Amino acid sequence: MLMRLIYLLIALTLPTWVCSGDTSSPISASSRYKDEPILPIPLTITLDTRKIKLGERLFNDPQLSHNNLLACASCHQLLLGGDDGLARSITNQGKSDLINAPTIFNSVYNFRQTWRGAFRTLEHQAEADLKNPRHGASTWYEVLPKLNADVYYKRTFQSIYPEGITRETVLDSIATFEKSLITPNSKFDQYLRGNESAITKDEKEGYLYFKQYGCIACHQGVNIGGNVFQKFGLFADYFSDRGNITKADYGLFNVTGKEKDRFVFRVPSLRNVAITAPYLHDGSLKSLKKTIELMAIYQLGTTLPDEHIDKLEMFLKTLTGEYKGQSLVMKDAL
Ligand code: HEC
Ligand code: HEC
Repeated sequence: MLMRLIYLLIALTLPTWVCSGDTSSPISASSRYKDEPILPIPLTITLDTRKIKLGERLFNDPQLSHNNLLACASCHQLLLGGDDGLARSITNQGKSDLINAPTIFNSVYNFRQTWRGAFRTLEHQAEADLKNPRHGASTWYEVLPKLNADVYYKRTFQSIYPEGITRETVLDSIATFEKSLITPNSKFDQYLRGNESAITKDEKEGYLYFKQYGCIACHQGVNIGGNVFQKFGLFADYFSDRGNITKADYGLFNVTGKEKDRFVFRVPSLRNVAITAPYLHDGSLKSLKKTIELMAIYQLGTTLPDEHIDKLEMFLKTLTGEYKGQSLVMKDAL
């Protein structure tokens, strides 16, 4: 319990770890829940709609990959919760990727991108994915001429950006589209905004456990995660228990080279988590219940009674939001 409190304090008091990104007035002044550690996603976000439309086209365009095989959307499918439902994506060479593909939804609210937190902006992330030998495997020397040869792109870029098709304008439009991928108005957000009956008694109890056990120390803020780094395996060694340790398991260590960062990850967002299985950076777990159970063991040093796991899961299911006014659906329902 003491350790749990200490981690809670660490996570909540280190301002440099906490996102100072765009969380501009996500709740109205009249909300009764403005003191909660979780904030609702703003209902709207103001962006240039011409850039969103262009960015969406680029996001879905396989020409961004070397062999015209994979679009960003191949691994980040909006109908599948913003990921691809696989433990590991299929790479450009038809092989299995090294790490699970995270959801693209709400990535604008993450203080760093990727599991190891390698990139600070969506533009950097998009360029890295475009060049990543397993993802786009491409270069600007390849991509820019392809786009320039396309009448739609040539015309549209010129109408938005005086400089036309460049590295910067391509990245700006993709990032603008990504910023539009927010999923507001989940049942839990409605509750945060003051609608007491938006969630059930059991779901409220689940939220209470989420705070009491200390999940909230790491999963908090507008994205219920995405704004702190934490070691995976604080109370027990997940990696030696699982076996077959790979470089991808080293997390932030791969970015900084510092020993203290080995097995440290950007805490993932729990927004829409009910529809983004499989879980963890290694994609090893299909069941949300199992993931909750495992979190308690490795991150909190405790074993949860089944009833509490059930209620925690009920709470997590209230975090599924809406995209363009439509509720996101479970994969099984498709
Ligand atoms: C072959 C599959 C694949 C393709 C194609 C792909 N990605 Fe990804 N994407 C991934 C994987 C896997 C990760 C996680 C990488 C990591 O953590 O090291 C990721 C991470 C991301 C993230 C960070 C999300 C987060 O929560 O950290 C964003 C944003 C993203 N990709 C956008 C894009 C864009 C934009 C494109 C197209 C230019 C693209 N992706 C193409 C598989 C893919
Ligand atoms: C000390 C920090 C910490 C605490 C406390 C914590 N988590 Fe996590 N959580 C993480 C990290 C880090 C990951 C990513 C693990 C990885 O790298 O695969 C994660 C991953 C998850 C995931 C998987 C998300 C996905 O998209 O794959 C779920 C679900 C989750 N946590 C729920 C919980 C619940 C429920 C609790 C409380 C019982 C909890 N966590 C407590 C840090 C924490």
